Amino acid sequence: MSSEYLPGLAGVPATQSNISYLDGEAGLLAYRGYRIEELAEKSTFEETTLLLLKGELPTSDELAEFEHLMRGNRIVKYNVREIMKNLPVTGHPMEMLQTAVASLGMFYPTEEAKYSDYKMSVKIIARMASLVTMWEHIRNGYDPLLPRKDLSYAENLLYMFSGEDPDPDVARIMDACLILHAEHTINASTFAALVAASTLASPYLVVAAAVGTLAGPLHGGANEKVVQMLQAIGKPENAKAWVENQLDNKGKIWGMGHREYSVKDPRATILQKMMMVWAEKKGSISPMFETALAVEEICEQRLAAKGIYPNVDFYSGILYKEMGIPTDQFTPLFAISRSAGWLAHWQEQLTDNRIFRPTQVYTGHTERPYMPMDKR
Ligand code: COA
Repeated sequence: MSSEYLPGLAGVPATQSNISYLDGEAGLLAYRGYRIEELAEKSTFEETTLLLLKGELPTSDELAEFEHLMRGNRIVKYNVREIMKNLPVTGHPMEMLQTAVASLGMFYPTEEAKYSDYKMSVKIIARMASLVTMWEHIRNGYDPLLPRKDLSYAENLLYMFSGEDPDPDVARIMDACLILHAEHTINASTFAALVAASTLASPYLVVAAAVGTLAGPLHGGANEKVVQMLQAIGKPENAKAWVENQLDNKGKIWGMGHREYSVKDPRATILQKMMMVWAEKKGSISPMFETALAVEEICEQRLAAKGIYPNVDFYSGILYKEMGIPTDQFTPLFAISRSAGWLAHWQEQLTDNRIFRPTQVYTGHTERPYMPMDKR
């Protein structure tokens, strides 16, 4: 058995999985064998979720049944809403989401014997969008909107944010964003989900563990950081000096780099194209998008040799910003769709479970006598 310590477990296989496949040199990502480009163009979030949970593309009857189930599970109990109303509005929405999703487990208890039933996952995935959008109203002092059963997942999400009937083109873009963020092999948050799953914790706590892990800026929290960075840069002409100053001072360019990809993240390429579609619809390119393009160009000159290119978070936030979504809700949006992947991994973990219990390289003191207080 190897005892070599590899920081960040880089390159260490920690599980076997047939859910998604990534080739970081070819820039390829596929869910259950289907390329992400094709899913983003042809599938829906509901269909992709079912594909992730069950392993196969559904028939029209299976999809209709699943959509019916998802729509019927959107309402969040009043008790959870009351918990949310008591949270400080100054807190980060990811903290709210972790609290709310964990508390759902107290109101919808899961029997361990039913863990293999994919309906357990539906109860959570369907409510994730409700929790995030309800918070937007609660923190602004209003009662949250009730979900609508006549809308798709993406449409209802947009409706619950704004209270307005969603524009079909915007809903389609949101749907594609949800698909693109739904799954990504064993990243930090999925690993956290697997560790929690391996202890036989409830799926609500599995998702709560993953939400907490996604929140950090090195992972899902980067989408919020990217927009803050682009706002600080201000305009394309400032990009060169800003990036160079940042790199010269060993700072990070948010939304750049990935442990697994040494080329541009395929999701970033798709999101960039979607941003172009958005610009065509609006008839103008947003200054923030222009600034992002300038940052990418300079990073290409400075960082490409290290295999550092835009990741999924580089362009997503600009799109969400254009949709009018508050910056601190970008990572919760990521969590909404990634709940599908987390729960697919939860189910897979339980089919052949062994508790995660890695080892460590001890670097502390050898054994020593206890020192009385007056001798310290
Ligand atoms: N900006 C500037 N330099 C970066 C960078 C970035 N975004 N990402 C990596 N690097 C540099 C590091 O400084 C390091 O350089 P060095 O070898 O000269 O010291 C080298 O690239 C390797 O980086 P490291 O942090 O060890 O890679 P990792 O695989 O451990 O980390 C990330 C991967 C994603 C955490 C890292 O690329 C990062 O912090 N990116 C920004 C945050 C982000 O966008 N996260 C979302 C990921 S989807």
